[in-house]
Amino acid sequence: MSPQPQAAVGAPLSRVDGRLKVTGKATYAAEHDIEGVVHAVVVDSSIGRGRITGIDTRAALAQPGVLKVISHLNAPNLAYRGNPESYDPPGKQLRVFQDDRVLFHGQPIAVVVATTLEVAQHAADLVKVRYAAEQSSTDMASAPAGPPVAYSRGDADKALASAPVRLDATYQQARAHHNAMELHATIARWDGDKLTLWDKSQWPKGTQKDLAAVFGIPQDSVHVISPFVGGAFGNAMRAWPHITISALAARETGRPVKLMLTRRQLYFGTGFRPSYEYRVRLGSDRRGRVSAMVQNLKAETSSYENFTEGVQHAGQMLYNAPNVRQDYRTVPLDVNTPVWMRGPGFATAAFALESAMDELADKLGIDPVELRLRNEPEEDPSNGLPFSTRRLRECLTVGAREFGWHRRNPRPRSTRDGDWLIGTGMATGTYDVLRSPAQARVRLDADGTALVEAATSDMGPGTYTSQTQLAADALGLTMRNVTFRLGDSTMPPTPPHGGSQTMANVGSAVLDGCDKLRTQAIKLAVEDERSPLYGADAANIVVRAGRLHVRDNPTRGETYRQLLTRNNRTHLEVLGSFTPGESRFSMYTYSATFAEVAVDARLGLVRVRRMLGVYDVGRIISPKLADSQALGGMVGGIGQALLEHTTTDHRDGRIVNADLANYLVPVNADIPELRGIYLDGGEDLKADPIGVKGLGEVVYIGVAPAIANAVFNATGRRVRELPITVEALL
Ligand code: MOS
Repeated sequence: MSPQPQAAVGAPLSRVDGRLKVTGKATYAAEHDIEGVVHAVVVDSSIGRGRITGIDTRAALAQPGVLKVISHLNAPNLAYRGNPESYDPPGKQLRVFQDDRVLFHGQPIAVVVATTLEVAQHAADLVKVRYAAEQSSTDMASAPAGPPVAYSRGDADKALASAPVRLDATYQQARAHHNAMELHATIARWDGDKLTLWDKSQWPKGTQKDLAAVFGIPQDSVHVISPFVGGAFGNAMRAWPHITISALAARETGRPVKLMLTRRQLYFGTGFRPSYEYRVRLGSDRRGRVSAMVQNLKAETSSYENFTEGVQHAGQMLYNAPNVRQDYRTVPLDVNTPVWMRGPGFATAAFALESAMDELADKLGIDPVELRLRNEPEEDPSNGLPFSTRRLRECLTVGAREFGWHRRNPRPRSTRDGDWLIGTGMATGTYDVLRSPAQARVRLDADGTALVEAATSDMGPGTYTSQTQLAADALGLTMRNVTFRLGDSTMPPTPPHGGSQTMANVGSAVLDGCDKLRTQAIKLAVEDERSPLYGADAANIVVRAGRLHVRDNPTRGETYRQLLTRNNRTHLEVLGSFTPGESRFSMYTYSATFAEVAVDARLGLVRVRRMLGVYDVGRIISPKLADSQALGGMVGGIGQALLEHTTTDHRDGRIVNADLANYLVPVNADIPELRGIYLDGGEDLKADPIGVKGLGEVVYIGVAPAIANAVFNATGRRVRELPITVEALL
């Protein structure tokens, strides 16, 4: 087959849904206008652990407009038969209103349904709950850990003991909440025994299956609609309790129910990145070759589910150390269950490992970039597999050159600008390439326009646009003649829209479908006596702007429209799919991030002055949106490094900063000049047919340690706890 001319892929196009978004016409979960909708407000627990001994709903029910108050006292039993296809952690998921137990502060314990939101809010305040409270345990430092997940190669303890240079440091990262702009919301409606959910979801198919399992109904009885998601960062990967609550409230009242969590309720009703403690011991020779790594990790989880994530990979494959030992334990606490948050696991590991490498570099008097180059493996040291592509060396060297790294004074606290101490730092990042089966339906209509659909989601990276770019080139259509639709569980299945896997996996299915459809159209033409292409070699035909023609003879051809109309075909339709084979390669994305900071010598205030990221992420389909992701990743990383910290009062397990006034995220004034560079010619065809490795996570991973390392270079102060606060620098 002749390769299709590429016009849209690789072009810096703006979002096809941009106009909808800026004019307010993109419909987010709570904005769907559903006839007869009533409103639900969740009542949550004010104790951190114990039992509910009574709920007085009289005052609430007396309010005009209140339809129902539902709690464990009157809720029906729900099936909770379990969804074997979910990615939920092992344990027993929180079952809404099924018993009197309180497992964490803020647990949803009742819901008030009323004809208006205001009445529902007021009535929720009037619900009186009595408890038998018990002492809750929310402090990881004082609670016992579970058994370890262990990993080992070589003899790390022996190698460490005999290493000429050793480092032993423990790094801590605070709990963090995603705090996407859009709040979590669901509108639920029952039509007989069919449930429709308009929901904020990173995985419409997953929510469909989860809710079918909760209510014990067939999967096809649940329809999830989620065309736009206003940010999520991992927190809409799971069907949280409020989705069940809205569906339950709708069933119990016989009305469509809208439930939007408040900003405060997001901290209890949905997940978070767990707090971590990560001890790193490194042993190396005097030339900086790391011979031993011992890593002890500890993270919080809930009492009812054991959440773990891919926090171990980086410590096993990023550096060529022959002797590595790791153990990873979780600490069950009276908290709700954590979930993935941007760069899940890897971002946490990067802070520990990349800080430790920076400390080692300082100890050895070796440049931090050079230290990393000296420890680059030729193959994946954790499993001996060849890398599909690994261009971390280039990320490091290109980054050092473009950032002006050689101008750096390695001696800490040596550069000043008035009252500001200036420093630079760098760190590497890595994230695994997730490969999952995906499908996409492609339909070409006789008017020469195409519709491509897949049940994925778009939380902001620009999936509508990038998939349209791929489809347009593969079908030989212009961007405006292709529509990509997503966010509906009736569409062909895809993996969750998370873990940077949408472009690669959904895109590979889209490409497959479009290639098949184009091939079908070409076949129709060359076998049609009335076609100018009759008898031509199918392998020699390309399609451009909706017109099929012989590659070297553009005058010989016809349009899709002419071809389909003449053949009385209203449309052609195919199902594209991507089924990743077993992998014989180690597949990761890589980044090198360089940061310059200024620290106020008297006030301890840290300002990031500039930042550069260099990325080995495979092929870039949509450069403008890729860059938008990278800039967003750096902004998020500044939050992780300097601001984001969920604070719990361990006396009763209450989160004390559950709002955006007290949980700080970066604002425009915090953001300096940011730049992303994407290594050329990086397509990775061992990963998937479109050569994409994924981008959204790795642009974030490595940002926080680059900043922490720059703070050390500026001040001579090594801060081993994120976020880096003013207090830590005074
Ligand atoms: Mo992301 S943590 O994979 O949504």
